Amino acid sequence: MRTILIGPPGAGKGTQAEMLTAKYGIPHISTGDMLRQAVKEATPMGLKAKTFMDSGALVPDDVMIGIVAERLARDDCANGFLLDGFPRTVAQAEALTDILSGLRISLNGVADIEVDDDILLRRLTGRRVCGECAATYHVANRPPAREGVCDKCGGELYQRPDDNAETAETRLKVYKEQTLPLIDYYSKQGLLRKIRGDTGLENVFREICGALE
Ligand code: AP5
Ligand code: MG
Ligand code: ZN
Repeated sequence: MRTILIGPPGAGKGTQAEMLTAKYGIPHISTGDMLRQAVKEATPMGLKAKTFMDSGALVPDDVMIGIVAERLARDDCANGFLLDGFPRTVAQAEALTDILSGLRISLNGVADIEVDDDILLRRLTGRRVCGECAATYHVANRPPAREGVCDKCGGELYQRPDDNAETAETRLKVYKEQTLPLIDYYSKQGLLRKIRGDTGLENVFREICGALE
């Protein structure tokens, strides 16, 4: 299974990716998670990316394309992968097409998870993430068993700095301007599968599996 999850901030890409990678045993490649790890480790790339991320803007294409090209060439991607949060500009999508043809592989499909803006904003502002394993929770929709503590690894949960209402609105705007054109890009290639993302975790999961298998 070689797949991309596309969708606005808060659509449930990371949440569904956790479930999909458990089912299919393929690596979850989240560029957002990779950047947050780099920020945490204060690497030169992390320091550069933080300013863009905290304002809700995208990190420059050349940085992102380099990270993903290197990641996809690793052995654990040989039997498939799930991309979450990449590509998100047409330039990134074109670069990915080149990377995959260089590796002589093609995509099974692209799942586009769609959710209305008002729901997205509620999801983003109520989200909590594990600082250790990046597992995702929501204060109302998907609370951990113990408040502030990750069910999976016992790590401490935190609120992403870009999940405040103002930055979340900026991210939705950036998505519409820079990422929505990808719907057309993949639709023309016959790869796009539209998924309703507001029907509950298990329903969304079943719909994605059905659309991609
Ligand atoms: P990234 O980390 O990719 O963030 P995003 O795309 O904004 O998406 P989110 O992670 O916010 O949402 P999600 O769809 O994963 O939702 P989740 O499953 O958590 O990117 C962050 C930043 O990094 C970007 O702004 C940019 O600066 C930079 N960046 C990353 N990649 C880049 C790239 N390729 N190019 C340039 N810059 C890049 O769910 C959200 C909440 O809703 C959770 O609380 C969850 O529990 C809840 N929820 C999920 N599904 C459901 C459901 N079905 N019902 C009810 N609640 C649900
Ligand atoms: Mg995510
Ligand atoms: Zn954890």
